[in-house]
Amino acid sequence: MVGLLHKEEDMKPKVFVSRIIPKPALDMIAQACEMELNEEDKPLSKAELIERIRDKDGLLCLLTDKIDEEVLSANPNLKVVANVAVGYDNIDVAAATRHKVMVTNTPGVLDNTTADFAWTLLMASARRLVQADKFTREGKYKGWGIMLFLGEDVYGKTLGICGLGRIGRAVARRARGFDMRILYTDAVRADPAVEQELGVTFVDKETLLRESDFVTLHVPLLPETYHYISTKELNMMKRTAHLINASRGPVVDEKALVQALREKRIAGAALDVFEEEPKLAPGLAELENVTLAPHIASASVETRTRMATMAAENLIAALSGKRPPNLVNTELAS
Ligand code: GLV
Repeated sequence: MVGLLHKEEDMKPKVFVSRIIPKPALDMIAQACEMELNEEDKPLSKAELIERIRDKDGLLCLLTDKIDEEVLSANPNLKVVANVAVGYDNIDVAAATRHKVMVTNTPGVLDNTTADFAWTLLMASARRLVQADKFTREGKYKGWGIMLFLGEDVYGKTLGICGLGRIGRAVARRARGFDMRILYTDAVRADPAVEQELGVTFVDKETLLRESDFVTLHVPLLPETYHYISTKELNMMKRTAHLINASRGPVVDEKALVQALREKRIAGAALDVFEEEPKLAPGLAELENVTLAPHIASASVETRTRMATMAAENLIAALSGKRPPNLVNTELAS
């Protein structure tokens, strides 16, 4: 009889992977765990998610999965939720801690890729690249024109960085090549050595908004940063300024932004994230002075693969009784 029973050490932990992720990560998980995958590459409803994680020890999820009290309390065996993202505002971390569920994220690997994309948005907005592309494709280019698609210079201008964390710093490093004056604001001022290395000046939010030609947002989504940019802030910005958001959608009051862009109170905006993804605020898509992207700031082959393998490492470590390298709720470290 004894031989028929599984020995504890032979049993692989059971995990659910909520969407298709890069293959190297799936291979790692399949080797270490008994893996079930949502092979349809679309987000699951909460009820479906609850059903799929019912008998699982671990969950690897994406930022499209909302992990709240209801999901966490549905499975008392769940030990870890490994998020494939640096931001984890999709997870109720306090509830996870109460349920003794470890939460992990993927910091560090996407800073440069995200900063590159913030710059892609900034340049596209300043030089009206998307409108110009559409115009050219539509056969409207009938000859060089001195007044055709005039935009704003980037070099020598003032860049305002809101949030000088890892990504904000990577954005600042790139600005130096454009000979820009760089202002930043943050809840906590950086060390003087960091300010000096990056060539950045700490100012309050209002000064940053009033003086910057390009305002780029790199704050996490927290109760304090919800609608960090709304009508009042947009009215402080220069009429020639551009707003760049590659952080989280609800950091910007999207309805207020549509209004400001419609009334040309600022020159342009470029957004990678939206308040209610994948929905856009009414009127946003009709505006010419906005550049839109579907939350792809970290979407390079290398970075998305690394994010996924990092999440897999976190998941496997937690299920092997080790401290995951990127534990968010550190109070659960053994
Ligand atoms: C992407 O948005 C991330 O938080 O990693």
